[in-house]
Amino acid sequence: ISKIAVLTSGGDAPGMNPCIRAVVRTGIYHNLQVVGIRQGYQGLIDNNMYDMTTRSVSNILNLGGTILKTARCIPFKSDEGMEIAYKHLKEHGIDGLVVIGGDGTFTGALRFSRKFPDISVIGVPGTIDNDLYGSTYTLGFDTATNTVIEAIDKIRDTADAHDRLFFIEVMGRDSGAIALRAGISCGAEAILLPERATAIDNLIENLKAGQFNKKSSSIVIVAEGDKTGGAYELAEAVRNEIKFYDVKVTILGHLQRGGSPSAFDRILGSRLGYAAVNALIKGETQKMVGLEANHIKLTGLEEALNQHQFKLEEDLMEMSEILSI
Ligand code: F6P
Repeated sequence: ISKIAVLTSGGDAPGMNPCIRAVVRTGIYHNLQVVGIRQGYQGLIDNNMYDMTTRSVSNILNLGGTILKTARCIPFKSDEGMEIAYKHLKEHGIDGLVVIGGDGTFTGALRFSRKFPDISVIGVPGTIDNDLYGSTYTLGFDTATNTVIEAIDKIRDTADAHDRLFFIEVMGRDSGAIALRAGISCGAEAILLPERATAIDNLIENLKAGQFNKKSSSIVIVAEGDKTGGAYELAEAVRNEIKFYDVKVTILGHLQRGGSPSAFDRILGSRLGYAAVNALIKGETQKMVGLEANHIKLTGLEEALNQHQFKLEEDLMEMSEILSI
């Protein structure tokens, strides 16, 4: 390996910048040339890349988003798109690639490196959804959860002042990880997750029990992937049954993706970026670097994608239900 490139792809996540910084500086420390690719795989196709120096990544540890920009790139899914990307990488003499993103990013990375095995590829799990096999935490999940908690605490103040019931929808795509952690942290009266079906009748009974127990407000967190319906539909479904509360809805939306990365995400980004470059130097390819039991672990990209599944964290759910009575 003599020249590596780094890109961020898919939804941005706080912690991507600390990770880019680690990739660049670890690479340069080991006498590698480092190239930054703008806008994810789109930048490979458009030949939109630039040489990076230690100073290209100065003062970015605290920044949300990604200095390299990101995109969800459809053309890279085609053979033709991949061939153009490969041609550009070869023209620049790049033989190693670090891709920071989620499962869509890894799917592209695996297909690409099977087609062109002379380019080594290492993936770094970067998504607020925390939905990748091979790493207990993904970059951005901690910051996003903290952002959600801050927002819900504020909603709790006004909910309590007015004796209101709020349905709050949070991100996570098919994963309820943010919803569950935020629910525990904010004492939500109910948490609706894609990993577990919730019957509306049970939800209504639960909310009635809360009122009977003299709760002055109630918060229901709805993961966006929950199958019962979105926050608005759920609010409509319970409105006539829950006369004692005024019912309101808040969709937190993209504010969950922004903001300065937490200490956890800065350290995780640094560790994963550092590990990704060291893996390339050791000759690894088609792997994802992750953190398990506080140790860096390499998982095959194929395994990471195949094992990808959403399991309900039963113990956390049960605890949350007991603690919110
Ligand atoms: O994967 C991160 C994520 O924020 C998901 O939680 C959400 O479903 C999706 O991206 C939103 O994507 P976009 O920013 O393209 O609307």
